[in-house]
Amino acid sequence: MIRDVKIAPSILAADFGRLDEEVRAVDEAGCDWIHVDVMDGHFVPNITFGPPAVKAARRATAKPIDVHLMIAPADPYLEAFADAGADRITVHAEAGPHLDRSLQTIRGLGKKAGVAINPATPEDAVAYILDRVDTILVMTVNPGFGGQTFIPAMFDKIRRVAAMIGEAPIEIEVDGGVAAANAAEIAAAGANVFVAGSSIFEDRDYAHAIAALRAAAMTGQGDE
Ligand code: DX5
Ligand code: ZN
Repeated sequence: MIRDVKIAPSILAADFGRLDEEVRAVDEAGCDWIHVDVMDGHFVPNITFGPPAVKAARRATAKPIDVHLMIAPADPYLEAFADAGADRITVHAEAGPHLDRSLQTIRGLGKKAGVAINPATPEDAVAYILDRVDTILVMTVNPGFGGQTFIPAMFDKIRRVAAMIGEAPIEIEVDGGVAAANAAEIAAAGANVFVAGSSIFEDRDYAHAIAALRAAAMTGQGDE
């Protein structure tokens, strides 16, 4: 099944001092979603944003805000991120014992629900919650930092996730080390949402970076 390609710049790689300007710039440059990486210094070895940053991003764009929670526990904070303006909220399968409940809570808040799986987590982790998710996020680096190298073994995992979900209306998102150079191969494996931090924000020309990613991804879908 071919799903629409979406490009989601990760503001982790943006200039935080000019966050609203940066969000507006990638919006105008043609991105589809804005990806916000929330880290707690506990589930992952780094600390980033909380709901106020989501609120700031919300004020700067009308495009969907895709909040990636790398926090444990996540459940006590879901409502705060929903209230701050998230449209999509993704929790990690490894972050708590009751993934099914977390996903129900997110949908209960009227938001699109996502589940992320770390590189070492088998795709089976999502086998029994497929009717509760809108997005499966395959981490293609170990979460915690931008600028890492894509882990090649994840191509196979993306293919397995794509086979598992079949025709279900679920987005397959990749996050970590994604660039125009590997986007075609990623898309050919079956992913359609491309989170990119460094490869967009390190390019002075955001529109060029987003267009290059999109073109590469669409070429990869053609190879399917
Ligand atoms: C990693 C984050 C990513 C990160 C990607 O823990 O979830 O979203 O910002 O950054 P790049 O694209 O630089 O690998
Ligand atoms: Zn992320």
